[in-house]
Amino acid sequence: MSTNILLLCGGDGSEHDISLLSAKFIEEQLKKTPEFSVTKAVIHNHKFIVDDNKNGIFLGDNIFSVDGKEIKVDCVVPCIHGIPGETGDIQSFLEIHNIPYIGCKAEASRYCFNKITTKLYLDALGIPNSPYAIIPLKNDKYKEEALAFFDKYQDIYVKAASQGSSVGCYHVTKRDDVWDCIAEAFQFSSEVILEKNIIHRELEVAAYEINGELKLSRPGEIIIPDNKFYTFDEKYSKDSGTITTVTPENLSEEDIRTIQDLARRAFVGLKLRDLSRIDFFLSKEDGILINEINTFPGATPISMFPKMLEHNGDVMSDFLAKAVRKAIAEQSK
Ligand SMILES: Nc1ncnc2c1ncn2[C@@H]1O[C@H](COP(=O)(O)OP(=O)(O)O)[C@@H](O)[C@H]1O
Ligand SMILES: [Mg+2]
Repeated sequence: MSTNILLLCGGDGSEHDISLLSAKFIEEQLKKTPEFSVTKAVIHNHKFIVDDNKNGIFLGDNIFSVDGKEIKVDCVVPCIHGIPGETGDIQSFLEIHNIPYIGCKAEASRYCFNKITTKLYLDALGIPNSPYAIIPLKNDKYKEEALAFFDKYQDIYVKAASQGSSVGCYHVTKRDDVWDCIAEAFQFSSEVILEKNIIHRELEVAAYEINGELKLSRPGEIIIPDNKFYTFDEKYSKDSGTITTVTPENLSEEDIRTIQDLARRAFVGLKLRDLSRIDFFLSKEDGILINEINTFPGATPISMFPKMLEHNGDVMSDFLAKAVRKAIAEQSK
């Protein structure tokens, strides 16, 4: 008997197109399991679009209807970066409809997507992260606090709190630019966070569950050309000078153990499920810090999660198949 998987992607957030690239790869991986029958639906303009032009509708009782053809959905794979996947919205929708899905649940997704709630959790768990200040509203009364934060560090990042792919993220080294960048960041999110610029090496870990065991890959590294940070273009443009590697040089076993230990504590403490990519800064001055947690990490050809998982001795298609079977089994308990 086949297992019907609904692969959701898109979402109309700033990472819509990246999600489509990831979904292409995830679909290929799911199709390696012979009993999986995959339907892909792109979330666009508040609709679920199948095969470019057909409308999909959830009818209840796990039925997804596409132009009158009814599919009994056994499991959803929410391959969405940002809104409405990593924000937890689609997970809440699936919970209401009692449809099994893989990946983090709604609450953990939302906490991790918002850079402020992530930090509140990390602080409470005693996990080091960069010094920060919160700008809750675009109101001049926060200007003084913002400038005081800048004056303390002289070199800061201004970030839209709920965004990904470096959208609404600015490196600010001039006092006069601070408030303008904050205003800009508010275009992308209703809250803004300021962070000290951490001079760092950028490392990432794949944290994933397989056969009930939490596994942490060895860290991979993102090597960004001088004077740049990991912007949208550095991440996705063909002209990006950024190099990624799953075998970074000059990383001590002690640092690797610390990174894996912090990743484990974050995964367990934030109640993540199935998969995540946990991003670190390794800094001479500031030590090892968690930068952020991605609850549905990218799976484009350049993405690190699948590479780190495979470098760790696992197979992406097998990992996905096991996560799907586990979600279905948990549902029928
Ligand atoms: N506090 C910081 N210090 C130094 N670099 C930073 C800091 N915050 C962000 N960056 C740089 O900006 C990039 C994007 O920021 P990040 O918080 O990861 O946002 P996103 O969720 O959009 O990926 C990071 O990969 C890093 O290169
Ligand atoms: Mg990031």
